[in-house]
Amino acid sequence: MGFRVGIVGVGPVGDRIYRVLKERDFPMDGKPVFMATRERTEKLADEEVLVREVSEEHFEGLDVVFFAGREGAKGASVQWGQVAVEAGAWVIDNGSDFRMSEGYPLVIPEVNMDAVTGENRHICSPNCSTIQMVVAINPIHRAAGIRRIVVSTYQATSGWGLAAMEEFEQQVQQYAAGEQVQFDPGIFDKPIVFDCLPRIDSFLDTYYTKEEMKMVDETKKIMGEPNLAVTATAVRVPVVIGHSEAINLELERPLSRDEALEILRDREKSPGVTVIDDPQNLKYPTQADCLKDEYKDEVLVGRVREDHTVEHGLNLWCVADNLRKGAATNTVQIAEGLIERGLLS
Ligand SMILES: NC(=O)c1ccc[n+]([C@@H]2O[C@H](COP(=O)([O-])OP(=O)(O)OC[C@H]3O[C@@H](n4cnc5c(N)ncnc54)[C@H](OP(=O)(O)O)[C@@H]3O)[C@@H](O)[C@H]2O)c1
Repeated sequence: MGFRVGIVGVGPVGDRIYRVLKERDFPMDGKPVFMATRERTEKLADEEVLVREVSEEHFEGLDVVFFAGREGAKGASVQWGQVAVEAGAWVIDNGSDFRMSEGYPLVIPEVNMDAVTGENRHICSPNCSTIQMVVAINPIHRAAGIRRIVVSTYQATSGWGLAAMEEFEQQVQQYAAGEQVQFDPGIFDKPIVFDCLPRIDSFLDTYYTKEEMKMVDETKKIMGEPNLAVTATAVRVPVVIGHSEAINLELERPLSRDEALEILRDREKSPGVTVIDDPQNLKYPTQADCLKDEYKDEVLVGRVREDHTVEHGLNLWCVADNLRKGAATNTVQIAEGLIERGLLS
């Protein structure tokens, strides 16, 4: 006997959720109920599945519903999140609509599963770039107290969704064939092929982008540190899957490279982290590494260095699969956490 599972949204994140549920033997009672904007069959996690048009009746009897739709007033969790909760399900939401709302737990299981009390059964999973950064730096914070974070991201096209992955691949082919490169300004406002775009999501009045402010605000909420200084620059790069981040930390107390590596290599202190840091042998993590089977759900950390330009400074580089640990895996781990705590039973 398992749980009745629903998945709303069947783009790359919905696909990975089903894949991760199967890989981790999540106790499911039959196949999930797949929902999207219209009914059809679709290949998900290498299986032909029936996708239903989302409607109230399809939430009946479900125990847990993973949301992987789009955001906004016409988006999946704004329209259907409450419906799912009222039907009796737990909602685990990849979208950004409720992440910063009062009373909505924003959860990375390695960091703050305790934020889930059962009071609100709509749980939010953070932004992909926030998840991998916080998994990597939280152990450092526990050991030496982080005062300030300066982060620059190098984010894959898949972070935008399926249409962006497809557009990038078409641009590569157009470029290779010597054709004019086409782009849809509704996705990125310039071609992404052979370029890096320092704009992810829309610009705000402050000249930051929404993506940058997600990293700032979500990090403080998850770590329970409202006064933490965080500043971010988010950049889209011509990579299909996998985000990288260059992270500069100012700490309360000194921490050497060796001490930081010892903490990050300790699975108990640093769950979900794998260190690849051996400069003499040219070993450091890249986006291609997070696609390897052994690393696909890990946050890879390397290039750990002391920064002597500030008091107690530390630099590091981290990499993760934005569709898996940055989205699907994190949500499935949240559901597993609910089972462990007897909240989903
Ligand atoms: N991609 C990432 O790296 C990443 C990381 C973290 C979080 N997220 C978040 O995860 C979500 C899914 O991302 P994605 O990359 O898979 O997006 P995507 O490729 O755009 O796919 C979105 C899916 O949601 C469905 N959908 C959209 N609006 C809906 C609605 N109102 N009701 C029901 N279904 C709806 C779409 O249905 P149709 O197929 O019928 O059009 C589609 O199947 C987004 O909220 C995104 O911000 C993504």
